Amino acid sequence: MKKVITYGTFDLFHHGHLNLLKRAKALGDYLVVGVTTEDFDINRGKLNVQQPLMERVRQVKETGLADEIILEEYEGQKIDDIQKYGISIFAIGSDWRGAFDYLKDYCEVVYIDRTEGISSTFIREQTQMVTLGIIGRGTMADRLVSECGHVCGMQAGAVCNDPGDSQAALNVMEMSDAVYILAEPARRGRLVRNALEKNCHVICESPVSLYGDETKDLYEYAQNRGLVLFDAIKTAYFRAFSRLVLLVKGGAIGRVKSIDAACTSMQPSNSWFYNSESKGGSLADWGPFVLLPVFKIFGLDYKECSFICSMDNDRDSDMFTQINLLYPCGVANLKTGYGVKSEGSLVVSGTKAYIYVPSPWWKTEYFEIRYENFNNNRRYFYKIDGEGIRYELAEFLRLVRTGERNFTISSDMSQKISGVMEKFLSNKNKYFI
Ligand code: CTP
Repeated sequence: MKKVITYGTFDLFHHGHLNLLKRAKALGDYLVVGVTTEDFDINRGKLNVQQPLMERVRQVKETGLADEIILEEYEGQKIDDIQKYGISIFAIGSDWRGAFDYLKDYCEVVYIDRTEGISSTFIREQTQMVTLGIIGRGTMADRLVSECGHVCGMQAGAVCNDPGDSQAALNVMEMSDAVYILAEPARRGRLVRNALEKNCHVICESPVSLYGDETKDLYEYAQNRGLVLFDAIKTAYFRAFSRLVLLVKGGAIGRVKSIDAACTSMQPSNSWFYNSESKGGSLADWGPFVLLPVFKIFGLDYKECSFICSMDNDRDSDMFTQINLLYPCGVANLKTGYGVKSEGSLVVSGTKAYIYVPSPWWKTEYFEIRYENFNNNRRYFYKIDGEGIRYELAEFLRLVRTGERNFTISSDMSQKISGVMEKFLSNKNKYFI
């Protein structure tokens, strides 16, 4: 029997896919179809696949052409599959011509002419183009424009570089389906509300506002209007970080007793950000990042929160802050700083082992589980493409499109982050050095 194998994402199944499967089937007696998993697609830079895996599998099945459907989950799987299923022919569309010649050592490779004028990307773009306006300045604003180009179905729209110019900001909101807000902390709450009033979905740098109640109101307002309000801490959307949290929750290091995290930078990246009027400082800048693993792992109900802080008197903002959070079962010791340098690592200590994420942990690509006996150590690696902003943009777009509200950073967590900022500004439990 001549067995043929082909692979694809088969998102939004179209007649190009059907033609491909018919031609592949005609090459032999038995057709194996490999459907790619979400993880595999994200890993190879294919973001914004719209349909869940099982739906894509169902569509392939309904053609009646596949004798067997398998999942493609990892790089290098094709060679394994060819050997495992006794494949004679590997078939794939002509857009891949040359890319799979290396499989010729294992079976015959056939490139099938692609159907002209149709693709999943084309269908996605036709139906779902979301224009993202940008309100804010700094290096992030420039990066956003290019990162949008990697998120299929999203395009960068108008940019307002001065968040203080309210008319210009309102103009951007009018022209956009969604806006990314990158303003000084003190301005964000107002801008988020304006954008929601203009019927824009909002992705906002964290903290969304400096007050817990204000953030709560904003989420409620967004929900009532059927809009997405999205807290943008990009680390939360990296696969390595979500994997780390899953492993910890699954008991990989036993019961967690402490979390130590630091985020510091030598120079303030945006000097306009750091002053008493903007309410910027090391905590407002880096605080949401260091709080993220703590809230994800220990939860939101800490018992005590205190700060030790050193002020930059020229700018009247904190240049270094240590946050101590006490939970019934554990403790977090977090450091944020600008003009103060520290090792930017993350350590999660448990009763069986600890997790170590090297600096800069907030751009997590790699982490280790370390045991007393280092022969048992395990390493995890997940590649990040570009600046990594595209992953949060892709998730934001998914929520906008589907109407789902299963946020990676829940409104409760976002409120808690604002709540920590509020406590800090109130000077309660705050000690100066
Ligand atoms: N294919 C084809 N003709 C098309 C579109 C796809 O022959 N017009 C083939 C591809 O070459 C591949 C298979 O169908 O062998 C599955 O492709 P997939 O990447 O899932 O589909 P695309 O429509 O190309 O998706 P995208 O636009 O997301 O790349």
